Amino acid sequence: MPDFSVRIDRTSSDSTKWNKYQDHDVIPFWVADMDFAAPDFVLEALHERIDHGIIGYAEPRPELVDAACKWFWHRFNWKVDPNWLIWIPGVVPGLNIASRAIGSDGDALIIMTPVYPPFLSVPENSDKQILHSPLLYDGAKWIMDFTDIGDKARLASGLLLSNPQNPTGRVYSENELSKLANICLANDVVIVSDEIHWGIVLDEHRSHIPIASISEEFAHTTITLIASTKTYNIAGVNCALGVIPDPTLRERFVDATTGLVSHISPLAYTATFATFLDQSSWVNDLLAYLRVNRDLLERCVKEIPGLAMAHVEGTYLGWIDARSLQIDDPATFFENHGLGFSNGVDFNGEGFVRFNFACPRDLLLEGIERLKTAASSCNMRP
Ligand SMILES: Cc1ncc(COP(=O)(O)O)c(C=O)c1O
Repeated sequence: MPDFSVRIDRTSSDSTKWNKYQDHDVIPFWVADMDFAAPDFVLEALHERIDHGIIGYAEPRPELVDAACKWFWHRFNWKVDPNWLIWIPGVVPGLNIASRAIGSDGDALIIMTPVYPPFLSVPENSDKQILHSPLLYDGAKWIMDFTDIGDKARLASGLLLSNPQNPTGRVYSENELSKLANICLANDVVIVSDEIHWGIVLDEHRSHIPIASISEEFAHTTITLIASTKTYNIAGVNCALGVIPDPTLRERFVDATTGLVSHISPLAYTATFATFLDQSSWVNDLLAYLRVNRDLLERCVKEIPGLAMAHVEGTYLGWIDARSLQIDDPATFFENHGLGFSNGVDFNGEGFVRFNFACPRDLLLEGIERLKTAASSCNMRP
């Protein structure tokens, strides 16, 4: 049984998350990686691969492709043809490649906000326009604005979807996804679905549904981008899959990679292969630990006047609404109180901060205490 309460010192490593606040008394709760070791079976597979001695250029072996297809079937009940799979060195590159593969220069892409910041630069990176469609808060959860999406779909050639959603923690239902896909189908809009957080579904009555798995029609209008990297905390191996059933779209995607996308590392293939073969309880153990962390954070935020947070169905990210505190720049304010959050402004969510709670519990509790102290030092907006 993995012990997620062990604190691993990352201050002396190469960690993006921890290096930002080196020599400052700020606990990093920002970048979306977890302060937990990857599972032993992944680390052992990597050790074994390194022991071979030659880390040359690599390609996906037939056993890996086979394991990937079986994994889609067992995890999501989704029959994936091996020909649909395109290996890429990350989901963010995948988003940018997909945008180049859709429509023509000057076309528009719909992006629901708030959203993981790299989404927001995708259109500009590929000479496209951005059409923002703000998510709505219904008092309990963030929901898509289908009326607005329907209006904008007439003007767009693509839509970027984050599901499970970063940063609001929504895990969309089949009904919501079907509504969205039907709008896109009716307007000839290609869906680019970033499903990197598929494994972090915290609510036991929910499950991750790849939008393309719902129907063949939806599959043919969708580019799915998925990876093992968030679930198994191996973001640094840089490996993801594009799943593209439509042959024309797939060809355009592959064309858009020409000369720009490097080989996938053999270590990335090895780690990913190990995760596809995983039959252990590691992910369930992780989810059980994260659930307690989430509950602690939700309870704490509820008790702090001036702060609010929607229930986190999936991901390990709390999207905290600090608009009722009388502060202009919540991210800097909390940083000055020893809390390194992601700044909501970067997600198109002014007045919010994002709290990554995937860390040993004692660190989270320290963060929660700091959050209480920080918030109590503010005057609330009437
Ligand atoms: C929604 C989402 N997509 C993509 C990524 C990054 O993907 P990659 O490292 O594979 O480029 C992240 C990382 O936080 C994410 O949260």
